[in-house]
Amino acid sequence: MNEPTAARAFVTGGAGFIGSTLVDRLITEGWSVTAYDSLDGSIYPREGRLRHLAQALRSSLFEFVQGDTRDSGDINQAMSHARPTVVFDLAARAGVRPSMSDPLAYIDVNVRGLQNTLLATATVGARLVFASSSSIYGNDPRRPFIEDQAQGRPASPYGATKIAGEALVHAHHEATGLPIGIARLFTVYGPRQRPDLAISSFANRMLDGEPIALFADGLGVRDYTYVDDVVEALVRMAAAPDASLTINVGSHRPIQTRTMVAELERALKVRAVNNLLPGQPGDVEATFADISRARERLGWEPLVPFSVGIDRFSDWLRAERS
Ligand SMILES: NC(=O)c1ccc[n+]([C@@H]2O[C@H](COP(=O)([O-])OP(=O)(O)OC[C@H]3O[C@@H](n4cnc5c(N)ncnc54)[C@H](O)[C@@H]3O)[C@@H](O)[C@H]2O)c1
Repeated sequence: MNEPTAARAFVTGGAGFIGSTLVDRLITEGWSVTAYDSLDGSIYPREGRLRHLAQALRSSLFEFVQGDTRDSGDINQAMSHARPTVVFDLAARAGVRPSMSDPLAYIDVNVRGLQNTLLATATVGARLVFASSSSIYGNDPRRPFIEDQAQGRPASPYGATKIAGEALVHAHHEATGLPIGIARLFTVYGPRQRPDLAISSFANRMLDGEPIALFADGLGVRDYTYVDDVVEALVRMAAAPDASLTINVGSHRPIQTRTMVAELERALKVRAVNNLLPGQPGDVEATFADISRARERLGWEPLVPFSVGIDRFSDWLRAERS
């Protein structure tokens, strides 16, 4: 009798905020996991990323490979060695605003690096789950965003690289017949959140007694999604019956920046000093996910209320800072 095939995951960007949370979850479920990550220092020091893997590194099911998706030979070798059944592709230059000043760095990683990842995935014959973004919808006024309304009109180079990424993933599926899942993530937050993202940077400044910059007068709206809910959706996508599936992963619960700040004040027990400023180029007015497809195809539901997620994030941040 044949042994059942063990689930083996290869997580690019596995030392990142979402990637490392996914890694921990997969190990808990008995997957063998290889995290492949360049420990990119452009947003914050590599030591911070390595700390995310402290728990995983204690597991015999886990292996960390430091490598760069822009090096086709390197990722090909790492993947051939790991022989994954599923590749979760989360390696990217993330963040909207820095992409305005350095778009080529984003194209290099999010397009060229992704193509190398796809070629390596084809070599091992694995399923691919790709982390796309709500940024692909740009400033489309028709909200909530439904997957099929995407028009290819992003508001930032970052969004443009995610549109290109989705197109490359589809081309890979057509060429190889291998199953793919595209998860369009909506403003993910929670423990380990990148320090450049609004919730993290606001919380740190508030705890330091420094003013926070509320662009668009704090009237912008985001569909904040708790990281464990996002990870649940990614894990479900790895087992979806569909050969090709594109879904929004959002909370279906748009929240104004001002309300987010009030939640941080409550959880951190500090008052914010707000500096109201005009909107920034590249930022969109609002994100709001229609999640009917995720509910229908994956039986997925966002479970963590915003105030609970902010409490968990605040507890983690206080521990990190002490
Ligand atoms: N955080 C969000 O709100 C959000 C929203 C939508 C989509 N996403 C997407 O989810 C994914 C993970 O985002 P995150 O917030 O965890 O970001 P993150 O920066 O914490 O994680 C990305 C990881 O990729 C690694 N990396 C960067 N370039 C690499 C390369 N060339 N080769 C190998 N590794 C490389 C980095 O070192 C980092 O650990 C990204 O693809 C991002 O675009 C995130």
